[in-house]
Amino acid sequence: MTIPRVLPHLEGRKALVVGIANDQSIAWGCAHWLRALGADVAITYLNEKAKKFVQPLADKLEAKIFMPLNVNEPGQLEAVFERIAKEWGQLDVLVHSIAFSPKEALCGRVVDVAREGFAATMDVSCWSFIRMAHLAEPLMKKGGTIFTMTYYGSQMVVENYNIMGVAKAALESAVRYIAAELGPKGIRVHAISPGPLATRAASGIPEFDEMLDKAQKSAPARALVSIDDVGAATAFLALDAAKLITGETMYIDGGYHIID
Ligand SMILES: NC(=O)c1ccc[n+]([C@@H]2O[C@H](COP(=O)([O-])OP(=O)(O)OC[C@H]3O[C@@H](n4cnc5c(N)ncnc54)[C@H](O)[C@@H]3O)[C@@H](O)[C@H]2O)c1
Repeated sequence: MTIPRVLPHLEGRKALVVGIANDQSIAWGCAHWLRALGADVAITYLNEKAKKFVQPLADKLEAKIFMPLNVNEPGQLEAVFERIAKEWGQLDVLVHSIAFSPKEALCGRVVDVAREGFAATMDVSCWSFIRMAHLAEPLMKKGGTIFTMTYYGSQMVVENYNIMGVAKAALESAVRYIAAELGPKGIRVHAISPGPLATRAASGIPEFDEMLDKAQKSAPARALVSIDDVGAATAFLALDAAKLITGETMYIDGGYHIID
């Protein structure tokens, strides 16, 4: 008897992807793969200026829901979840792929960070994830998977990553707590930790090219990751096949994090 072929898929699943700025965004790689595996996707854009770059990508994804979302704007996040509740009545996958730090906070020493810069960094890069998980919980009635994007600079002191490393450490901890809290409801929570990728957010990090160069030379795979690599791994973790994996910080970095 031959073993039948089973194609893993996300047909009928509903996914919200937050963080597409353009076709280099990690969130685009994730949305692309979730759609490729059959999920219906909801997409957000930061503001009117960003809309024209995101709209063609939302069209390619046949996004049923396309809404503005600046997590600093009161009510916008709630409006996105209300629309999902009304239109879909459920949510299966949430991808949080946003981060922000004011230049004066990001580009200085951690020891010098002002209260406002610290708060602004944590608010967008960490608290927004906690809030999204809170709003997703009642919609993930049959379980689901929640993702956020982190970086190795949370674990090790990476030159120029500065206060964002502190925010990512808090974010990874939030992932573990929320994974424990929502696990009994069948909701899984992961941090995805890609190696450096030349995106718009990355352009705010000083000497980013050196980071890319180091990653390429030192990673066991001797290669830089792409948003496609990150998207494929994320979509895999959203499959039922990965139902007993939760609370992970999953490195998609060619193995860089195991090297001294
Ligand atoms: N690029 C890298 O090397 C790298 C590596 C590891 C992790 N990450 C993380 O991946 C995530 C996505 O970043 P990216 O590299 O794809 O860059 P990107 O610039 O394409 O995406 C960042 C997104 O954050 C959004 N954003 C910023 N402030 C916001 C706000 N107030 N409200 C709503 N959205 C807001 C932007 O609109 C943008 O879509 C971030 O969390 C980043 O820290 C990036």
